Amino acid sequence: MSNAAPQDPDHAPDEAPAFAAERPILTVQQHILLEQTRFPGVSGEFSWLLSGITLAAKMISARVRRAGLMDESGAGGGQNIQGEIQQKLDIYANQVLMHCLAVRENVAVLASEENEHPQLVDGDNPRPEYSYVVVFDPLDGSSNIDVNVSVGTTFSILRRRPVEEGEADVMSDVLQPGSRQVAAGYVLYGSSTMLVYTAGNGVHGFTLDPAIGAFVLSHENIRIPERGKYYSVNEAHIDKFPPVCRRYLDGLRAANYGSRYVGSMVADVHRTLLKGGVFLYPPTAANPEGKLRLLYEANPVAFIVEQAGGRASDGHRRILDIPPESIHQRTSLVLGGPSEMDAYERCVAEE
Ligand code: AHG
Ligand code: MN
Ligand code: MN
Repeated sequence: MSNAAPQDPDHAPDEAPAFAAERPILTVQQHILLEQTRFPGVSGEFSWLLSGITLAAKMISARVRRAGLMDESGAGGGQNIQGEIQQKLDIYANQVLMHCLAVRENVAVLASEENEHPQLVDGDNPRPEYSYVVVFDPLDGSSNIDVNVSVGTTFSILRRRPVEEGEADVMSDVLQPGSRQVAAGYVLYGSSTMLVYTAGNGVHGFTLDPAIGAFVLSHENIRIPERGKYYSVNEAHIDKFPPVCRRYLDGLRAANYGSRYVGSMVADVHRTLLKGGVFLYPPTAANPEGKLRLLYEANPVAFIVEQAGGRASDGHRRILDIPPESIHQRTSLVLGGPSEMDAYERCVAEE
């Protein structure tokens, strides 16, 4: 005889509804740890380093979403090494990333768009176990902050050059071609906050779930479409583009491509990655070598797009093969899916 209280049909006990996840709930940390089991050579220290980036991204996202309420938008009064007016959020994002990464004991060197020189993390002679270099653009698309348009953060992770390659020094640690990145990615502060990264085994996207404060896997193994329908370029400069670019864009318009241009590289690249098409920042009168910075803008997005099946060049050379000569070196950039990059290369061949 059950001694359970008689069931009151009107007040059946609250059965906790079974939790049915539509998809496995995988955070970026869990994803990295899983990745590491596939690549025994990649030690657990990488996931620890990445947690510095995800923590900073959450802090920047929170600040970006309240910028208008805290007098956080607008210029910070200073200029960065590029001679660009620093926005308050540029300064905040830079400080947050420098802090969150510097407390990761396996980070030796930090280089930022906002700092003239690389920063050594532990005195002048970091211990050998300090093995990573992180190069980043703390806030990309700064001119869009005040008008509530998506902005981003880009990052590129390298290993220090082994000492046997000659006297390892900070600059030689930072000035490595993009092909030596061990990981790279970006954070997009858009309608949602997304982290997209690659560690050389595909491209994976995580959406920040504000309810739990975690980046949760939302776009596994992103592949760029074979052919898109948009090109993305600042057409205000078109008269100063090289002729090959103008011919290329004429061809895209003739093929009924549409145009989309946000003015934040991370947003324009993210749309190109998901929808296909091409993003370009060719040489202009103001920036004859191109405007985007090789180390912390072009290299990370080039690694991402190549891992997703696309290509990225400076118009002639593969971005990831370009040997950097200075930290803030600029480059032109043509980045897109197979069909659009084939078309570009045909235009170059016809020159
Ligand atoms: P940042 O805000 O870090 O200086 O980068 C801005 C860059 C890039 O995000 C974007 O693609 C490009 O500047 C836009 O330049 P134009 O305004 O000349 O189109
Ligand atoms: Mn930028
Ligand atoms: Mn920036």
